[in-house]
Amino acid sequence: MTNQHTIGFLGCGNMGGAILEGMLENGLCEPSGVLVAERSPERRDHWSARGVRVSDSPRDLAGVGTLLVAVKPQSFAEAAKSIGSLDESTMVLSVMAGIDSSEIARAFGGRVRVVRAMPNTPCAVGAGISAVAIGAHAGRDDLREAIQLMGTVGRVVEVGESELHAVTAVSGSGPAYLFLLAEAWIEAAIENGLDPAVARELVISTVHGSAELLRRDGDPEALRGTVTSKGGTTAAGIERLEAGAIREAMSTAVRAARERSEELGRG
Ligand SMILES: NC(=O)c1ccc[n+]([C@@H]2O[C@H](COP(=O)([O-])OP(=O)(O)OC[C@H]3O[C@@H](n4cnc5c(N)ncnc54)[C@H](OP(=O)(O)O)[C@@H]3O)[C@@H](O)[C@H]2O)c1
Repeated sequence: MTNQHTIGFLGCGNMGGAILEGMLENGLCEPSGVLVAERSPERRDHWSARGVRVSDSPRDLAGVGTLLVAVKPQSFAEAAKSIGSLDESTMVLSVMAGIDSSEIARAFGGRVRVVRAMPNTPCAVGAGISAVAIGAHAGRDDLREAIQLMGTVGRVVEVGESELHAVTAVSGSGPAYLFLLAEAWIEAAIENGLDPAVARELVISTVHGSAELLRRDGDPEALRGTVTSKGGTTAAGIERLEAGAIREAMSTAVRAARERSEELGRG
């Protein structure tokens, strides 16, 4: 097989690994049609055992048809340098936060087609959400390919590249907001006399079941109404959450994360 028919992975750690797993599970490609360049020997062994071609050198990725870039942003410049120039026959799909598509294209000599995606950690269980954006030199066909790839690990929405900072703040960082809420909720359950294991089960199952309801119904305010009767227990709890400025806290948290993403993007 020539490299042109190969999907290359530059870095295949947590996020790259989740995407490759999704692609293989969904039959989007054969293991032998994938080449993973990984620094970690354990990760190379893992993918090699799955029938994927592996290399310790990004240089071997030169000339692949699709290059999925999943190294940390701070590792990118050095890794791109060792791959060298790529031409317009390569489509780069980057999941890196903060590095814009023109910078990615420049790092590969200026001609590659670049699409960016911002996934989140639930991709590891096939329940992620990714936003994809057309970048430098890319067209609708590239976007379609990116949507197909990212669709193997969850849902996909299309945005403009400039919106990816806000996406990073909302859904990229989003799982951590929910996990923080779950931590505080479990602590509160224990404070109110519940056994820690029971507290954990109650909170996790409530988050999971409520997420399913929200996915089906789509309207958080209406769903909240179905649990809240005037003068009842939920109303008493919600009143304290509103008094504790939960909406303002969410608004300032998302703004701070977006501004931090913009700042990191400026280098
Ligand atoms: N995790 C998230 O929630 C999330 C969400 C959205 C986007 N992303 C993006 O996904 C990207 C990857 O994040 P991650 O959490 O998957 O990181 P990760 O688990 O550290 O995976 C990156 C992998 O790339 C390897 N690597 C680094 N430089 C290399 C090189 N020159 N050649 C070959 N392999 C190299 C690393 O090896 P070493 O460990 O030896 O360095 C590591 O195994 C980041 O750019 C991040 O912005 C992550």
